[in-house]
Amino acid sequence: MENQPHKGRGRDAATDSPIVGANGATQSADILGSQLNPPEISPSRTRHLNAAILGGAPAFERTLHVGRPNMPDQQVFLKRMKQILNSGQLTNWGPLVQDFESRVAEISGAKHCIATCNATTGLELAISGLGMSGDVIVPSFTFIATVHALWRQGVRPVFCDIDPVTHCLDVDCVEAAITSRTTGILGVHLWGNSCASPKLRDLAKQHDLKLLFDAAHAFGCQSDQKNPYLGDAEVYSFHATKCIHAFEGGAIVTNDRDLADRLRLLVNFGFAEEDIVEHLGTNGKMNEASAAMGLTSIEAMDRFFAHNRENYNAFAAGLADVPGINLMSRSTAHKHSYQYIVTEVDPTIVGATRDELVAALRLENVYARRYFYPGCHRMQPYAGLSQRAGLTLPVTEAVAERVMILPTGMAVTSQDVDRLCSRIASIVRQAPAVCTAIRQCKDPRLPYFAQKDANTSTNHH
Ligand SMILES: Cc1ncc(COP(=O)(O)O)c(C=O)c1O
Repeated sequence: MENQPHKGRGRDAATDSPIVGANGATQSADILGSQLNPPEISPSRTRHLNAAILGGAPAFERTLHVGRPNMPDQQVFLKRMKQILNSGQLTNWGPLVQDFESRVAEISGAKHCIATCNATTGLELAISGLGMSGDVIVPSFTFIATVHALWRQGVRPVFCDIDPVTHCLDVDCVEAAITSRTTGILGVHLWGNSCASPKLRDLAKQHDLKLLFDAAHAFGCQSDQKNPYLGDAEVYSFHATKCIHAFEGGAIVTNDRDLADRLRLLVNFGFAEEDIVEHLGTNGKMNEASAAMGLTSIEAMDRFFAHNRENYNAFAAGLADVPGINLMSRSTAHKHSYQYIVTEVDPTIVGATRDELVAALRLENVYARRYFYPGCHRMQPYAGLSQRAGLTLPVTEAVAERVMILPTGMAVTSQDVDRLCSRIASIVRQAPAVCTAIRQCKDPRLPYFAQKDANTSTNHH
């Protein structure tokens, strides 16, 4: 089923096996908690089975990161760089930026594309170009740049809750938040999930609101080439952590010719012609080197997506039988980058919090991440405003406590995924002992939040 937390059939762990006692029975986590290194298991075997926080060998010698850059064909990239150096045109809509804009427009199914130096600037430009003012409705469960872009353009973010399955804006909450001050909706295609439902589009139309999408996660993710739910505009990120990147980069796509023309002025200081400035613009242009990387990266898109899909399938199989770790499922009807391995940790089942799991994984040399904790409405400069307004976002707050993003990308193989899932299963089996060890651990690699939370926690398990 589309977008349901994934729980399918699993397969045996590749590197760890269930911890079996002398009588052949699988030991419960409670027994392990009070009886580490039982005499009937040889020390080397125990070391292999144990989580690193319990004295076992780390699952990985090298570190696995979330968002490690994907590297496209070096020779092709270097050829393009040579072309740039020989031409002498480094920026200001050189031929590679023009090619990049054409490719992005084509892939996204939009008529116009304006390349930018990053998505944050792209969002600010789109907000300004669309004439958003007053209040704009936005999710709190997003990267802070979405909200900063509004605030920096003098627009007040009105935070809205999210759907617990897709993590995108809850349309009923959006409807309830519309007032006479509202001029637009800024939705986020989080994790590459589409936020652009027909209902949201109808709502925007009905109330005459601008509809902008932060599609930083979503380049290349769509059901077909037409992109019928584009909204007024959509902004991609080509930051190095994205599946397709341009070192740093962004792009605004739209079907609105007037908006595109305006954005082309805004992105270049507002210059209409030499010496003629018509708008309050900025310098948001993409440079030729970024376009060279962006184009080369786009050429590798199918390979990157396929690799990520293989990793995703390995995660789905490897985590299927791990209780309390739910992998967000992906609709096979949509083309998808699978760039985010989104899991939700249920502490009542796992016997450890998400933060404790993230901490235990650090010692395995796995840098899992707790995106987007604690939610933008609880970060500065918005926390004070939210507090004064008595704002609570129950789904956002619950999801922000549970989400754990696991590493994928070209630097992670499906064998790595098998090993990682097996180690997560081991950690979960040994949860009580793991939690006790985290509380006592002084290892500087441990994220401060895990120790702090563990020290102040009363009854996690
Ligand atoms: C949802 C979201 N919006 C905006 C951005 C900002 O993108 P950029 O780094 O290209 O400015 C990011 C960056 O990761 C993001 O995740």
